[in-house]
Amino acid sequence: MTIFVTGGAGFIGSNFIFHILKKYPDYRVVCLDKLTYAGNLSTLASVEGNKNFRFVKIDICDRQAVFNLFKEEKPHTVVNFAAESHVDRSIADPEIFLKTNILGTATLMDACREYGIKRFHQVSTDEVYGDLPLDRPDLFFTEKTPIHTSSPYSSSKAAADLLALAYYRTYGLPVTVSRCSNNYGPYHFPEKLIPLMIANALNDKPLPVYGTGENVRDWLYVEDHCKAIDLIIHKGKAGEVYNVGGHNEMRNIDIVKLICKELGKPESLIIYVSDRKGHDLRYAIDPTKIHTELGWLPETKFSDGIKKTVKWYLENRKWWEDIISGEYKNYYEKMYGNA
Ligand code: NAD
Ligand code: DAU
Repeated sequence: MTIFVTGGAGFIGSNFIFHILKKYPDYRVVCLDKLTYAGNLSTLASVEGNKNFRFVKIDICDRQAVFNLFKEEKPHTVVNFAAESHVDRSIADPEIFLKTNILGTATLMDACREYGIKRFHQVSTDEVYGDLPLDRPDLFFTEKTPIHTSSPYSSSKAAADLLALAYYRTYGLPVTVSRCSNNYGPYHFPEKLIPLMIANALNDKPLPVYGTGENVRDWLYVEDHCKAIDLIIHKGKAGEVYNVGGHNEMRNIDIVKLICKELGKPESLIIYVSDRKGHDLRYAIDPTKIHTELGWLPETKFSDGIKKTVKWYLENRKWWEDIISGEYKNYYEKMYGNA
């Protein structure tokens, strides 16, 4: 059985590849990745020599190349992680988000229609639901919450979800969609909150918190997300959406203070910077459906997961130092100025 994993040189896709190759020794995994700024081949070094693994550098928008690969490999399942994933970059320049996240998803699904597939799984996000108010802790996103997006990123992801569900209804393509909350863990690109704060703190650089730092995110250890997708592609029902999240809401400022504590760094490194435009206030997932229908529950407590993550960044300095010393420097300067 061959699984295509798109975006597998990125954060969650790479963790998913490790999970699948370890758990299913008889599966073949083909990783399709364009290797954008966020894709890193060194992330996949540990599986490079695995006989069940193949890497193909490909843009999911390149119809001819995608169709050729489907023809050659005849995948049984496609899990689509490939995306432009950073909200701040989408605010600065939306176009590539529309191309990759919408047209790329459609191209993959067209190839699935042409060559046949047992399952196309679209990895989506809780951001498609917009945000919740800070003063209503009783409210959560369910699969029935209306789509109501805030950023070009979340709008492009919502469009892809709707397309995937339309391909199910119109063409009968066996599609599932998962909408997960914020992930953290190894190989998280250092432009995102947790790895950015760890890297900056280790370099005694300022820790830039947007606005007042009161925005809330619902954090899930990346392995738990991978296990949820594994369950959905094997046991989930075609045409269904599954929310994934672990009831682990935290304010940004508390995350940053916790990282300072874990690393023995002073909170005086924290600075407050201009807020993100259209900044979503609170995300909070109700995971009842995936729990009751598929038996999924998160296994890693945040207090353990954050320790494991900090340890990983301490032990894998070369991985993130290579990133932040390259092209990333220009991005950082543009985003944060001299902070
Ligand atoms: P990431 O930015 O770390 O990785 C994205 C990967 O996609 C990179 O390897 C990149 O090279 C590849 N890619 C980008 N454009 C491509 C294209 N046109 N063709 C082929 N490959 C391309 O992202 P991530 O954080 O691992 O997120 C993966 C998926 O999960 C995304 O779809 C994202 O929307 C979704 N998601 C992320 C989170 C999170 O907290 N990070 C939470 C919920 C959902
Ligand atoms: O909820 C799922 C989403 O989580 C995914 O769909 C996205 O792909 C992923 O990037 C993530 O989006 P967020 O915007 O929530 O993550 P980010 O790490 O960029 O920011 C988390 C919070 O921290 C957010 O409220 C903005 C804030 N922040 C972020 C950065 C980078 C800061 O205060 N300072 C920063 O420097």
